Amino acid sequence: MKYPALEDAEFKGRKVLLRADLNVPMQDGKIADDSRIKAVLPTIEYILDHGASLMIASHMGRPGGIENLKLSLAPVAERLGELLGKKVIFAPDCIGARVNTLASSLNPGDILLLENLRFHPEEKKGDLDFARKLGLNADIYVNDAFGTSHRSHASMVGVPEVLGRGYAGFLIQKELKVFEKMLSFPARPFALLLGGAKVSDKIPVIENLLPRLNHLMIGGAMAFTFMKEMGLNVGTSLLELDRLGAARKILDDAEKYDVDIHLPVDIVIAPSTGSPELAEVVAADAIPDRMAGLDIGPGTVAEFTEIIRRSCTVVWNGPMGVFEIPPFDKGTRGIALALAEATGDGTVTVVGGGDSVRAVVEAGLLSRISFVSTGGGASLKLLQGKKLPALDALRGGRK
Ligand code: 3PG
Repeated sequence: MKYPALEDAEFKGRKVLLRADLNVPMQDGKIADDSRIKAVLPTIEYILDHGASLMIASHMGRPGGIENLKLSLAPVAERLGELLGKKVIFAPDCIGARVNTLASSLNPGDILLLENLRFHPEEKKGDLDFARKLGLNADIYVNDAFGTSHRSHASMVGVPEVLGRGYAGFLIQKELKVFEKMLSFPARPFALLLGGAKVSDKIPVIENLLPRLNHLMIGGAMAFTFMKEMGLNVGTSLLELDRLGAARKILDDAEKYDVDIHLPVDIVIAPSTGSPELAEVVAADAIPDRMAGLDIGPGTVAEFTEIIRRSCTVVWNGPMGVFEIPPFDKGTRGIALALAEATGDGTVTVVGGGDSVRAVVEAGLLSRISFVSTGGGASLKLLQGKKLPALDALRGGRK
């Protein structure tokens, strides 16, 4: 896939609108993790170094089309200024007269961060009039919001349409390169490790990758749908009964493609997430009727660790249990460590998906993984073999 890239544009003396994904996690009004801000710095610095002035647009959270100051990008403006070592002007809106005045006074090297795009319902609707207002002050559009590139929102597809084209920033270029290389020429053995609550989210990923895989490891609540289909009792664990057929098809296809499927051999159970003190480990075929499986057990961590250790490429998406609540975090943390150790031994490891990335960050293992994607939904789309609408839009014109 080739898209117009940052390096193709002439920036000198121009005004640039950069769509970034500055949707950072906030805790008590403070930024809890600034990785997404740091990830877009190379693009910002490149644009400024090439003589342009910069307006940056982003969303934050899901305010539902109304102003909500808890989801203001003001703290991001402050942090961005600290990271760049220069003033970042903050606009109280993303369109309108006040923004136009601020934009018109920008000089080369200046930065204006616009307020949350999603305070306007038109953003999510992909409204072209709204896109026109957003692009009004810009000569050039650059998109580096990889984490949002699966959304056909006004700032993602509408602005490049009204401006005629756009350019992909360095973060988008890097993410695409990693996923394309890994999916086209994975070093073998190639293992996929999936977790999370829902089988339905992951079915298209499995369908796309199964013919290329050597190992498929399944943890998290989605494992219970497979275990149920195989005739095991899963107690009160989360289940998607309407996906039993899909699970059966995946099990049959895996046999057809000679892929080894690995399901949990033991499970951490408790009456509910509210009673962690009653947690115990049982064999996967011994879950009692009134108990719920809330994490993979230590035997499963050991088995998955061994597969990861023997693989040359491992992709991980989705937590192994309810990792926000100890002790149900142990499986996910164990897997994060297994990936870090395998990376040290030369395995290419790729982690995508908000929760699995969070587990890696919380365990302090970020720098020990080959590649951690900044996009959850966007990376899933790539693993499903689907196109990202925002990237197609960079070529201009409506697709
Ligand atoms: C994300 O955090 O995955 C991106 O910022 C996209 O956010 P959204 O799922 O609210 O569109």
